[in-house]
Amino acid sequence: MSAALRAERVMVAHVEILSALHRQCFDDGWSPDSMASLLNTPGTTGVIAVAEPTDQPVGFILMRIVAGEGEILSVGVVPDAQAQGIGTFLLGIMLEEAIEVVFLDVASDNEPAMKLYQHAGFEVVGRRPGYYKRPGGEPVDSLTMKYVLR
Ligand SMILES: CC(C)(COP(=O)(O)OP(=O)(O)OC[C@H]1O[C@@H](n2cnc3c(N)ncnc32)[C@H](O)[C@@H]1OP(=O)(O)O)[C@@H](O)C(=O)NCCC(=O)NCCS
Repeated sequence: MSAALRAERVMVAHVEILSALHRQCFDDGWSPDSMASLLNTPGTTGVIAVAEPTDQPVGFILMRIVAGEGEILSVGVVPDAQAQGIGTFLLGIMLEEAIEVVFLDVASDNEPAMKLYQHAGFEVVGRRPGYYKRPGGEPVDSLTMKYVLR
């Protein structure tokens, strides 16, 4: 990792920051209202990665834990800060907090995300053909991945 980072626990007060981060990372960015309803759902947790000493938010991860099972809801790192280990940093924090297993879904053509998850120890356990649509309408499979805490 090239810069010093700190992790801040997400709170409802962070909805604007989370929405802005999400919009930089995804075509279908989530609004502050969507973020607020997510954060108000029981079991939702997450962290924001903040670069030091600039105090600039550079990434986020959101997870829901229900009955010992974690589900990664979303993870993103702003384009300028990608490929510097920040995604790995964020995922590592979440994996320490889940209790038994963690699931997630990822587009099968998302190479950086697949690398991130596979290196953390996730394995593919399912496929939903054509689950996602790219902006041009092109279908992309969704892969369900599972991590078992050992
Ligand atoms: C997926 C994402 C969160 C990874 O975050 P990151 O901070 O770049 O990840 P890291 O730097 O920790 O790198 C994780 C792995 O991805 C690889 N990677 C990162 N960016 C890459 C790129 N543009 N192309 C190919 N591989 C890439 C890294 O090399 C690393 O693999 P390695 O261990 O073999 O070197 C980030 O690319 C992102 O925000 N993408 C857009 C949003 C998204 O797709 N989120 C996931 C949805 S499921």
